[in-house]
This record gives sequence, C-alpha cells and structure tokens, in this order.
Amino acid sequence: MALLEVLTFPNPFLKTRCRPVEQFNESLLQLAQDMADTMYDAPGIGLAATQVGSDLRFFIMDIQYDKEEPESKKKPLFFANPQIIETKGEIMMEEGCLSIPEFKAEVKRSDWVKVQYQDAKGNPQVLEASGLTAVCIQHELDHLNGVLFIDYLSPLRRKMIQTRLKKLARG
Ligand code: NI
Repeated sequence: MALLEVLTFPNPFLKTRCRPVEQFNESLLQLAQDMADTMYDAPGIGLAATQVGSDLRFFIMDIQYDKEEPESKKKPLFFANPQIIETKGEIMMEEGCLSIPEFKAEVKRSDWVKVQYQDAKGNPQVLEASGLTAVCIQHELDHLNGVLFIDYLSPLRRKMIQTRLKKLARG
C-alpha cells in the first residue's frame, strides 16, 4: 500500500487541464491503486489524478465504503476520459474535497447524469447515476479540467478559505 501526497488549494497544479489517457498499462493501474489507498485512508469518496500531481484524465470513486463498518467492502470505480453526455434536474448538496481540507459548501449540480468513460482496461462504458453518485462524478470530472468546487463560490469566500488554509498549514 502506498499513500500519495494530496495537493491542497491553492497549489497551481490543481488548475491543470488533464490530457486523455491513451495507454491502459501497468503504471496507470499502479497509480490508480495508490490513489485508491490514499482515498480510503483519508477517508474520501473520490480522488482525481490532478490531486496527486498527475495530468492523466481519470479519477476513482467509491461512495459506499465505510471505514468504520467491518462488513463494508472496497469497490473503487475507475473513470478514464469521462464525458457527461446527458444531464437532468438540479440538486444542492454540501461538498468537501481532500484538496480543500476542513471546508464544506453547498454547490448546485445536475441531479442525474449519463457519463461515458473507459474502465481500467480501456473498455468503453456508460453509466447513469443520480444523487450523491452524480454529484461525485461531476465534482471529480471538474478536477480533470482544473476546476474546484470553491470556484462556484464568490471570490470573497474563496479568499477567506485561502486565508484559513494558510493558517492551517502553519499549524
Ligand atoms: Ni475534490
């Protein structure tokens, strides 16, 4: 098990627009595995490549695993080159992010999405998702375009978060 360093706001790498995954090889699988270890350890429900300093266009997520629940099984989902091809409705949900520690805010997203992507073997897949799964997909896909959920907030609130994170970093 390898834990990776998760970059935190305002690290400029988080603004990276990722390039498509073209090679579904061992090193990609290893990175995805290390990202899963990191995500479960945090714990978090999703992690995008940009957050660990990679510019490959993929993320992983697992919204059902519960660290405190002994029966709970880890089933990380892998999404490479994801594209949302259809959306429905609206939902407001409180979001957090491993790159923005100790901060949560409500964000408006689509309540339902149809996403086209490639799995860890490179096979094309389509998933229809709603609620938390849909929100998580949109949040992680944003990361691959260099967008953070706080980008939907006012500039003043973003500034406040930045100040607070600097204080946290200083300890
Ligand atoms: Ni995030």
